[in-house]
Amino acid sequence: MTEKIRIQGKQIVDGVVPISGAKNAALPLLAATLLSSEKIVLRNVPPLQDVRTMLSLLDDIGVRFHLKSDSPYASTVELQADTVNDFRASYDIVKRMRASILVLGPLLARFGECYVSLPGGCAIGVRPVDLHLQGMEALGATVSLKDGYIHATSSKGLKGTEFEFPQPTVTGTENMMMAAVLADGKTILKNAAREPEIVDLAKCLNKMGARITGHGSATIEIDGVTRLHSADHAVVPDRIEAGTYAIAAGITHGRVDLKGGNFRELLPGFIEKMTEAGLIFTDIENGLRVESAEKISPVDLETAPFPGYPTDLQAQSMALLCIASGTSNIYEHIWENRFMHVAELARMGANIKVTGTHACIYGVDQLLGAPVYATDLRASFSLVLAALAAEGTTVLDRVYHLDRGYCKIEKKFAECSVKIERFK
Ligand code: EPZ
Repeated sequence: MTEKIRIQGKQIVDGVVPISGAKNAALPLLAATLLSSEKIVLRNVPPLQDVRTMLSLLDDIGVRFHLKSDSPYASTVELQADTVNDFRASYDIVKRMRASILVLGPLLARFGECYVSLPGGCAIGVRPVDLHLQGMEALGATVSLKDGYIHATSSKGLKGTEFEFPQPTVTGTENMMMAAVLADGKTILKNAAREPEIVDLAKCLNKMGARITGHGSATIEIDGVTRLHSADHAVVPDRIEAGTYAIAAGITHGRVDLKGGNFRELLPGFIEKMTEAGLIFTDIENGLRVESAEKISPVDLETAPFPGYPTDLQAQSMALLCIASGTSNIYEHIWENRFMHVAELARMGANIKVTGTHACIYGVDQLLGAPVYATDLRASFSLVLAALAAEGTTVLDRVYHLDRGYCKIEKKFAECSVKIERFK
């Protein structure tokens, strides 16, 4: 029996949301601890299912760690990869979380060998890893595929290289950066991804003794070193969680204070477009206040790599545009199947027409509560947002999707005068 969430409609968000550390920064940072035999301390780690999955993968590999909860929303993890005895990321873990591919670069760089299960697809698309493998081969690794596993070796060690990504890839850039920090010589990555989570990883690697420059731009340079040492690093706040709660304020015509980071810097493309839609952003101490105009205006969105409009906020933005005073268009350029939330939103009275990776959203006056189910992490939250604004009660099934990427959602909403109820 899967857990469900029941939400009464017509609630108004009004309060303060402490934003947790970024899931998509914590995952590569945890993988990066494989690069050193010394103790690494990671703070502001979000207590999420995906983090627990990555920790169980590191445990299988032989990394020792201790996790301490600092608050309901953050923990400190101390890790040490001095007793690693296996270089394998098994299918049963990788199929639960594609980001497990992030152990490929560190294992290859530190130990010269790894077996990582091919991730397989997921709800939002095929999600190949061919660019990760091309990058490893460019660094001199030998890569073969057998029984669904990637087997990569670098008996003579990795050698610095110049590599241009055919298109920006977030975890592909992260894997290459982690592999190159221990390579012999200089590596130059061109057309690298520029997401803040990549910048955060580079900052931590440099604290560990790596020599990385250009992170955050499309050209990253890494001068290889022979070993990395201990470090203490706090995870960057989660811009996607922040954007999600910003939309919660907008769709309920309420107000939220997002605390814990410089969200204007972390969400440039999002803030630009959501301002057009009628959200009002005001800087506050260590955060950002979000309110909404009386009416939400229609806008056209195109998802793009950072600093463009984040694909991970596409589903949530669509929920908001369902109640805009006109017709909006969303073009999803990153993932080929990231409109799974459309059918569920339609069950709530939304009027959306999908043609390939283009969605045309005709604003309606009122959404209606309904039984719906989550299909993937971000789609699940778009249904929560629609439910908050809808007339009537919504029951959301398959809530485990939510728990992968959002921590303590009931508690964070309770601090904003919004009640959502979890039940089996
Ligand atoms: C990261 O996934 C994020 N996950 C995703 O967030 C996010 O949607 C995505 O970046 C885009 O921003 C993590 O950081 C753990 P990509 P990633 O490689 O790295 C193609 C969430 O909701 N591609 O940047 O897997 C790919 O098909 C998740 O938190 C190749 O063709 O995404 C896509 O079209 C969902 N070959 C594009 O590049 C490759 O080898 C961008 O993918 C790699 C990617």
